[in-house]
Amino acid sequence: MAEWVNVASVGDIENRHSVIVEVDGTSVVIFNLDGEYCALEDVCTHDGAEIASGCLVGDAIECPRHGARFDIRTGAVEAPPAYEPLQTFPIRINNGVIQVCDDRWD
Ligand code: FES
Repeated sequence: MAEWVNVASVGDIENRHSVIVEVDGTSVVIFNLDGEYCALEDVCTHDGAEIASGCLVGDAIECPRHGARFDIRTGAVEAPPAYEPLQTFPIRINNGVIQVCDDRWD
């Protein structure tokens, strides 16, 4: 069973900004959307580009490579050329610490 991994403290990520962390060998981008934290694999499903340096468009992230757009909360595709959602991960706050769990192999 996958374990929760400490990735940052609340307050480390400014509102509507992100940080990149490693969780069990996977690059994960953590977004702070108005106090709601979201964790996504930092890999665009279109052609494998990193997604973290893309522009925020509302509550979506736009891939810096070809402009696919994804809902940050769900990973769902909002605009092509990607057609598969981004991988999302469970995320929680535990005593002021942001924790992520890579549960893909459970
Ligand atoms: S790699 Fe992200 S849109 Fe092409």
